[in-house]
Amino acid sequence: MEQRLRELAQEALRALEGANTPEELNHIRVHYLGKKGEVTQVLRGMGALPAEERPRIGQVANEVREQIETALAARNQHVKEAQRSLRLAAETLDVSLPGVRFDLGKLHPLTQVLREIETIFLGLGFQIAEGPEIELDYYNFEALNLPKDHPARDMQDTFFINPEVLLRTHTSPVQVRTMEKTVPHVPVKVICPGRVYRRDDDATHSPMFHQVEGLVVDKQITFADLKGVLATFARQMFGPATRTRLRPSYFPFTEPSAEVDISCFNCQGSGCRVCKGSGWLEILGSGMVHPRVLEMSGYNPEEVTGFAFGMGVERIAMLKYGIDDLRLLFDNDIRFLEQF
Ligand code: PHE
Repeated sequence: MEQRLRELAQEALRALEGANTPEELNHIRVHYLGKKGEVTQVLRGMGALPAEERPRIGQVANEVREQIETALAARNQHVKEAQRSLRLAAETLDVSLPGVRFDLGKLHPLTQVLREIETIFLGLGFQIAEGPEIELDYYNFEALNLPKDHPARDMQDTFFINPEVLLRTHTSPVQVRTMEKTVPHVPVKVICPGRVYRRDDDATHSPMFHQVEGLVVDKQITFADLKGVLATFARQMFGPATRTRLRPSYFPFTEPSAEVDISCFNCQGSGCRVCKGSGWLEILGSGMVHPRVLEMSGYNPEEVTGFAFGMGVERIAMLKYGIDDLRLLFDNDIRFLEQF
């Protein structure tokens, strides 16, 4: 019996040497050590042995069992390592391959310019006011001294929804709404950013564009305040060397009115392609709030005065970045947008 056990041990060890997968190992374990395995079968026969031989055979059986188990564990380790190196060899990593590029999103150039404008005016003590894009004729025109049939309405070709309701053509109606809310208190000191709509469509006009308009109403506001605020804005927006010039103009809601030009930041005024040789770039419209406009909003033009201005965000962005076709700003072509 002892011999049989020793034979089984040798057999098992030989079998293990040829085993290369966990499945084969398991098969060998069950075959020799399992409930119905060879070693177990032999031990079943122990009952037939003389009592004095049993302890020795028991010891041999334990030895054999231990021998097989140790060999199993060692082979198991070996098989695992072999499989692991096979896997690693198959998975080789080429660290010289180019990595996966990771693109960062960024703000649209119009958003960047809009925020820059807002930041400058917030720094000058202005607050931001917003209002509806679908507006009443009253706020868009009438309260701004543009009664029905006023010829100056032609300056802003309008999308009407019905005779009283339209898509706002500028953000000036927000200024009126702000005055109505603030009256009789002063000061009013707001900028009104937002989308506006006009029936225009070419390389420098789009049916939807963005404006930032501004309004200051207080006691003793003068044209010098207008000039000082807008010159400060121009220097912060376009650089400290920027000069400004006011040209007489006409708006129904301001009197007097002026266009504000800045010295060309490209040629410093000597004349170039950007300023079309004039040395100046028009950036906004402005003026002293017309007394009738103050009056319609409830202020007494004998007690308070004000100035207002309005600029197109697209135009400022085009000047600042040298963009020659406004439609590029709305095409959403990443190759264009990622340059800003
Ligand atoms: N509302 C004018 C426009 O859209 C701009 C402007 C605002 C001019 C305020 C003067 C004063 O063209």
